[in-house]
Amino acid sequence: MSRIASLDYSALYSRLQGTALQPWLDVLPVMIEKNFNAARWGDIPRWLSCIEKLPIIEPNAINLDADTVSIVNETPLTADVRQQLEQALRGLHPWRKGPFDIAGIHINTEWRSDWKWKRLQAHIKPLTGKTVLDVGCGSGYHCWRMKGAGADLVIGIDPSPLFIVQYWALQHFIQSNSVFVLPAACEDLPQDLQAFDTVFSMGVLYHRRAPMDHLLELRQLLKPGGQLVLETLVIEGDENAVLVPGDRYGRMGNVWFIPSVAALTRWLEKMRFSDIKVVDVCATTIEEQRSTDWMTFQSLSDFLDPDNHSKTVEGHPAPVRAILTATRKS
Ligand SMILES: C[S@@+](CC[C@H](N)C(=O)[O-])C[C@H]1O[C@@H](n2cnc3c(N)ncnc32)[C@H](O)[C@@H]1O
Repeated sequence: MSRIASLDYSALYSRLQGTALQPWLDVLPVMIEKNFNAARWGDIPRWLSCIEKLPIIEPNAINLDADTVSIVNETPLTADVRQQLEQALRGLHPWRKGPFDIAGIHINTEWRSDWKWKRLQAHIKPLTGKTVLDVGCGSGYHCWRMKGAGADLVIGIDPSPLFIVQYWALQHFIQSNSVFVLPAACEDLPQDLQAFDTVFSMGVLYHRRAPMDHLLELRQLLKPGGQLVLETLVIEGDENAVLVPGDRYGRMGNVWFIPSVAALTRWLEKMRFSDIKVVDVCATTIEEQRSTDWMTFQSLSDFLDPDNHSKTVEGHPAPVRAILTATRKS
């Protein structure tokens, strides 16, 4: 039996009372109901049954400040409980963002999301005591790391219901009062909340058909003086260089714009961000994104030209990602 009623966000609702995010409470429950809808997503009952089957474990420690987000249980699990745990977690395949370790079960996710965190953590404003939003957070791996870095309240949003259930699998054990992942897209958020000290948008901009509107939405979520941490695909070139892929980019159908770093910087300036810094640019490798036994579908090596890994199968430049930080001026 699970200790949490599935998708019970009442702890979040209590936390938002009396804060700058209180106005969101007017629409939040309805939004959650609408976006996590079994009529639309037929797998939801099966995924929730996996959560129900997770065993109760009283962890000895929760480690959110290490490459692998871990739930540490010093007493070895019995073979039966271990099997029950592993089966329930494997029912939530594919696991894309991680890694996680739950009582000795290592979830070797498609992405080494810890590598992205390592690239940015020294360059962002301290998160200690802050209210943070992670837009397009996937399973919430980075949300847990943000809490590990001292954030007071972390809200992640993602429209994909499987990732929300994966968050609840972790939350079943962690029982956190300060990390919440909600079923939502950024366009579902109320406009002009001005409530977050730091907003992360990582791996989302190229999925947006109107990227400058996305930057504007992110700006309006920030308090004046708040920091945006933006991570996205980039190409080489000057401030006028932007790739608009045809049908697909690396087999992804929903990639709209891939700017150069110079073009992205100009977009941020136009949206009235200041203090814009490029803190990292690096090619995504087949060691960072790969198939594993927790994500058995195709991965990056299948999306690259087999004879030339500097190109995608469509002949576009292979994925290179940049991380920029910027401040909301006023
Ligand atoms: C490439 S993944 C990045 C995940 C994570 N932020 C990271 O950097 O590892 C992109 C995520 O954005 C989510 N996403 C796509 N469109 C979105 C939107 N309009 N609003 C919020 N999230 C979105 C997807 O469901 C997916 O989980």
